[in-house]
Amino acid sequence: MEFNYLVNQNCVELMNSMDENSIDLTITSPPYDQLRNYEGYDFDFKSVADGLYKVTKQGGIVVWVVGDRIKNGNKSLTSFKQAIYFQEIGFNVHDVMIYRKKNTPFMRSNAYTNCYEFMHVFSKGKPNTYNPIMIDTVRQGFEKMPTNKGPDGVNNKVIGKLNSKKARTNIWEYAVGMHGTTSDKIAFEHPAVMPEKLAEDHILSWTNEGDLVFDPMCGSGTTCKMALKNNRKYIGCDISKEYIEIARKRIDLVSK
Ligand SMILES: C[S@@+](CC[C@H](N)C(=O)[O-])C[C@H]1O[C@@H](n2cnc3c(N)ncnc32)[C@H](O)[C@@H]1O
Repeated sequence: MEFNYLVNQNCVELMNSMDENSIDLTITSPPYDQLRNYEGYDFDFKSVADGLYKVTKQGGIVVWVVGDRIKNGNKSLTSFKQAIYFQEIGFNVHDVMIYRKKNTPFMRSNAYTNCYEFMHVFSKGKPNTYNPIMIDTVRQGFEKMPTNKGPDGVNNKVIGKLNSKKARTNIWEYAVGMHGTTSDKIAFEHPAVMPEKLAEDHILSWTNEGDLVFDPMCGSGTTCKMALKNNRKYIGCDISKEYIEIARKRIDLVSK
């Protein structure tokens, strides 16, 4: 199957023409709850989810970055309903991760400021790849550690080496806006750009070099750009010609 291309098409049509079991990782942020109009385009959620199940490899992953609209003081919970649908069609809900925004301008007068979106991680069976991102532990060096309590009730302590690294938690935090989301000025011609680092961290976690990364609703091309930068193959699709042009320019910047 072809790869390393961007296409201006409805992703449902594209997925109909793609090979089954061909994608290692999808990272996408769908238009949710008509929060933004994206030049009037809407999308048929169930057909997109069904298409993703078809094209995802056994052991492949879909990262679905989504939030909920608040209307008349009521959260839509669309993100939950969608997660349940993904599960019903055969995906495992491997994790429900949080994308925490460091700077959030939007305030509510009678509720705490919302500062996150969900990153639903769906897997088709057991994930083929998991390369956890490691961080430094707070306490390092050597420490007296308890060993198993013996029959005499004495809990002996022995000197042990503390791990200097541990895997991150499933709450990831990113700055948003210029130089946070990206430093590509042109990307902001799209109204809802995802942080590059978010895409990169998922690419590093769930794929290896040479794997194929897909974004069916790629907007300004963040997922594809980060796949290319990290020596993965990519396919990007967007229903808007204007957004695909932005994505092309960003990919060209990397290629150069
Ligand atoms: C939240 S934006 C994605 C932003 C992207 N993650 C980025 O970093 O720029 C959602 C995108 O879905 C696209 N879209 C909506 N319906 C679509 C469809 N049926 N097929 C392909 N793209 C679609 C919109 O044009 C919009 O660019």
